[in-house]
Amino acid sequence: MHANHSRLIKIFLVIISIKLFLILVLFAYNNSNVNRFRPRRMVFIDELLIDKSETPSWQERLKLIREEMPSFPLEELTHRPPLKPSCGLVPSVLGIDYSNDYWQMVRVANLTYYLFGAYYDNREKMTEAPLVRVLTMINLYAKHHEVKYPETFCQLWYKNRVEPIVVSVTDHRLIWFWGGGPPQVFPTLLSCPLPKKNGTNVEEVPEMVSLVTERCEKARNLLRVVYERDVSNTDILPTASPKEQDQKDNPKPNKPLRFMVCVKAMDFLYVDMSSRLIEWLELMRLLGAGKVVFYDAQMHPNMTRVINDYIENSPDFVELRPLSMSRGVPHTGRHFHHYAMGVDNFNRILNEMIPYNDCFYRNMYKYDYVGVFDIDEIIMPLGNVTNWSDLIELAHKVPDYERAPANCTNWASFCFRNVYFPRYPERPKVYKELPSFYYMLQHVERVAEHCDRYSATKCLHSTRYVIGLHNHFPLFHAGNGECDPKSVPIEFAQLHHYREPDNKTRLIDPIIDDNIWRFQPTLQQRVYAKYKKLGFLPDISQVINAEIQRRNDDERKLQEAIGMT
Ligand SMILES: *[C@@H]1O[C@H](CO)[C@@H](O)[C@H](O)[C@H]1NC(C)=O
Ligand SMILES: *[C@@H]1O[C@H](CO)[C@@H](O)[C@H](O)[C@H]1NC(C)=O
Ligand SMILES: *[C@@H]1O[C@H](CO)[C@@H](O)[C@H](O)[C@H]1NC(C)=O
Ligand SMILES: *[C@@H]1O[C@H](CO)[C@@H](O)[C@H](O)[C@H]1NC(C)=O
Ligand SMILES: *[C@@H]1O[C@H](CO)[C@@H](O)[C@H](O)[C@H]1NC(C)=O
Ligand SMILES: *[C@@H]1O[C@H](CO)[C@@H](O)[C@H](O)[C@H]1NC(C)=O
Ligand SMILES: *[C@@H]1O[C@H](CO)[C@@H](O)[C@H](O)[C@H]1NC(C)=O
Repeated sequence: MHANHSRLIKIFLVIISIKLFLILVLFAYNNSNVNRFRPRRMVFIDELLIDKSETPSWQERLKLIREEMPSFPLEELTHRPPLKPSCGLVPSVLGIDYSNDYWQMVRVANLTYYLFGAYYDNREKMTEAPLVRVLTMINLYAKHHEVKYPETFCQLWYKNRVEPIVVSVTDHRLIWFWGGGPPQVFPTLLSCPLPKKNGTNVEEVPEMVSLVTERCEKARNLLRVVYERDVSNTDILPTASPKEQDQKDNPKPNKPLRFMVCVKAMDFLYVDMSSRLIEWLELMRLLGAGKVVFYDAQMHPNMTRVINDYIENSPDFVELRPLSMSRGVPHTGRHFHHYAMGVDNFNRILNEMIPYNDCFYRNMYKYDYVGVFDIDEIIMPLGNVTNWSDLIELAHKVPDYERAPANCTNWASFCFRNVYFPRYPERPKVYKELPSFYYMLQHVERVAEHCDRYSATKCLHSTRYVIGLHNHFPLFHAGNGECDPKSVPIEFAQLHHYREPDNKTRLIDPIIDDNIWRFQPTLQQRVYAKYKKLGFLPDISQVINAEIQRRNDDERKLQEAIGMT
C-alpha cells in the first residue's frame, strides 16, 4: 500500500517534468521564430584604431623639435636674412658637428670642446654683464687662471642682422676643483662679454652663437642663446632694461620668494622609486618649490607614469628635459646607458654639472633661489617655520655656523647641514597605524649627529649672485657685495637625507625626529590622492590574493625544509 503510494507520486512527478519540458521547448521554439524574422544586423568592419589626426603644422613641428633638441636653433635659422655675411657664416642644419644628439663638437688646437648650451646673462650683479655664457665639456683639467686656453671667439648672431658681432672668449671657468685628467672631460663655462657700445644696443640679445678659433671662420657649430625672461611680471618692458634688474635687486617686502629645484639625470631603471618620488614632490610643493626640473636618463616605467601625470596636470610644476652624456656614451638603449653610466663613476659625476648649470641658467630670471637636490633630500625648516620663503628671511639673520660674525647683508647661497634618515629595516614601525608606503612620514628615526658644515651639504642658491654650480655648493659667484655661502645652524633647518650613512657607527642609537609631521595631514592626503589616481593602491582581492600567495610560498618553503632534513 505504502509502496504503491510512492510509485504514484513518482509517476506524477515524471508527467509534470515532461509537461514542463514541452512548455520550455515550445517557448524556445517560439522565441527562435521571433529571432528568425527579426532582421540580422550585419557589421562590416572597415576601419582600424589608427591615429587619424592631421600632420602637425610647421609651428607645432618647430615646437616639438625645440623640445627634442633644446640647443639647436631651428626657429632662428629659418628667419635668417637671405644675404651672406662678409664675416663667418651661419652653418646649415647639416653643417653642424653634432655629438650624441645634444652636444656639438669643436676642436681647438689640441683640445676638444663638447658644447651643450648658451645663455644670456645680464644680471645686475655680474660685472662683465651683459654676456653670453657657453656651457661645455673640455678634455682639459686645469686650475682656474693657471692654464692658458687657446684663443677662441664667439660669433654672435642677432635677429635681422646679416653680420655677426665677434667677441673674444675672456674666461674658461672649470666647474670642478678636485683634479683629474685624460680621458675625462670637464664641465667648463666660457664667458663671451657683449660689446658695451659699438652701434648695437647693449641690451639687444643675440639669438645664436658659434665658437670659432678665428674671428671670421665658417663655424661648424651653432647654439641657441637661451634667454628665458620672467613673463609673469607684467610691468617689464619687452627688452631687458637696467630698471628690471633694480626691481629684482630690491624685492618688495612681504613678496614671497620664488624657489625652484634642479634634479640630475634620473637613472632608476630597475628600482621602482615611484612612491618615494610622489611623496618627495608633494613635500617640495608644500615647502614652496614653484618648479622641479628633471633630466631624463632611464626610469622605471612606473616613475615615468608619475612624472608624465605631473607634467600633464601641473605643467608649470614639473619639467622633464632630454640629456645625454658627453664623451659619446650612447644614450639610446636604456639598459646599455644605465650600464655605461655605472662603468665610469667619475665620468658620471663630471657630467652631473651639466644639468645643474643648464637648469640654473634657464630659470635664473624666474626664480630667486635654486636648489640642487636628489629625490632623497629635503631642506627642512624647523621650529615654527614651514616654508623656504620664511626660512630664507630667517637665514639672513641667524649666525653662520662655526664662523665669526662677518659684515654681510647678502650671501651667494644658504647651506644646510646634512643628517641621515636610514631605512632601519630591522626596527619596528614607529607609527603602527600608518602604512609603510608613506616613506618619509614613517621613517622619523635618524642618526643622532649632523655632518659638518661641508660634508654632503645642500644649499638654496641665490640667482642674483651664483655663476657656476656644483651639486653641494656654488664654485663661482659674482663677488659683488655678497659673502660666501652661509651654513645655517641646525636649530633653524637641516638637510634630511633618506639613505644609509657612509659611517655605519652612526646607525647606533637613532633618535626620533618627527618634524615632517608638521605637514600632516596635508602631505598624507595629497600623496594618497596621487596613489589612488595612478592606481598604486591595491584592491581588497589583490591584497587577499597576495596574502594567500605569501602563505603558500611559506608553506612550500617549510615543506622543502622538512623534506631536506
Ligand atoms: C695640449 O698641448 C699643451 C701644450 O703643448 C699641453 O700642455 C696639453 O697637455 C695638451 N692637452 C691635451 C688635452 O692633450
Ligand atoms: C668697435 O668697432 C670698431 C670698428 O668696427 C672696432 O675697431 C672696435 O674694436 C670695436 N670695439 C669693441 C669694444 O668691440
Ligand atoms: C610660509 O608660512 C607662513 C607661516 O605658516 C605663512 O604665513 C606664509 O604665507 C607662508 N609663505 C609662503 C610663501 O607659502
Ligand atoms: C616664529 O617664532 C618667532 C619667535 O617666537 C617669531 O618671531 C616668528 O615670527 C615666528 N615665525 C613664524 C613664521 O610664525
Ligand atoms: C660694515 O659695512 C658697512 C658698509 O659697507 C660699513 O659702513 C660698516 O662700517 C661695516 N661695519 C663693520 C663693523 O665693519
Ligand atoms: C664614525 O662615527 C663615529 C660616531 O659618530 C665617530 O666616532 C667616528 O670617528 C666616525 N668614523 C669615521 C671614520 O669618520
Ligand atoms: C608598477 O610596475 C609593476 C611592474 O611592471 C606593475 O605590475 C604595476 O601595475 C605598476 N604600478 C602602476 C601603478 O602602474
